[in-house]
Amino acid sequence: MQTQTKQQTATNWLAALDEEARGLVAAVDAHPDARGLLDGTLDVEGYIHYLVQTYHYARWSTPILAEAGHRLNRLGRHPELAKLLIQKGEEERGHDIWLLTDLKNLGVPEAQVEAAAHNPAVDAYTGWNFFTSLSGVPTAVLGTAYALEYLSQTRAGVWAERLQAVSTIPNIRKSVTFLRSHGALDGGHVAEMQKILTPLTDPEDQEAILFSARVARSVYPRIFREGATVGHPHTR
Ligand SMILES: [Fe+2]
Ligand SMILES: [Fe+2]
Repeated sequence: MQTQTKQQTATNWLAALDEEARGLVAAVDAHPDARGLLDGTLDVEGYIHYLVQTYHYARWSTPILAEAGHRLNRLGRHPELAKLLIQKGEEERGHDIWLLTDLKNLGVPEAQVEAAAHNPAVDAYTGWNFFTSLSGVPTAVLGTAYALEYLSQTRAGVWAERLQAVSTIPNIRKSVTFLRSHGALDGGHVAEMQKILTPLTDPEDQEAILFSARVARSVYPRIFREGATVGHPHTR
């Protein structure tokens, strides 16, 4: 009976996490620029904006995941998971270089990418994830990772295909490495994450992971361009 209840709780928790991930996809799909990615008609400015902002958060994936792992070790919690997080961080290494290459092929040099203003969503994303890894509940990062891998599994490959098939952006075929590679990789990563998450029974971990997925759901869709009529005081 008790085992049944425990199983039930685990199922509910993972179902709630899935709900956040699906909610993120829906929120992204609702953005005009993401719709343009889905039908391949996004203009070059919108695509460059998306890649530049993605660079400014993706470049921190390796340290964010590694810090979460090291912190778990310092706290003496989940040693296996700590190892996995550090390994996951290593798997993310160099993905920011794909973005720089795609941008270079679109005529945007690295110096310009580095100097570009981040939008508030990027700062919120990196701030939040460094916070949970360095001084919050370090397992929280799994919530953000799950939501983004799920989005990537569902959309990155399709976006790359549609852009290649439809887009008139010059050099587009050489500028979809980041999307194409993630479309290919992240299906496996979602399955891997589900395996990692299933044995986590501590309510504090579950709560933190779910909350972090919610943050990703609310923050991530805002990395796309703000509509021309809704200027944001902090965008330059
Ligand atoms: Fe990646
Ligand atoms: Fe991944």
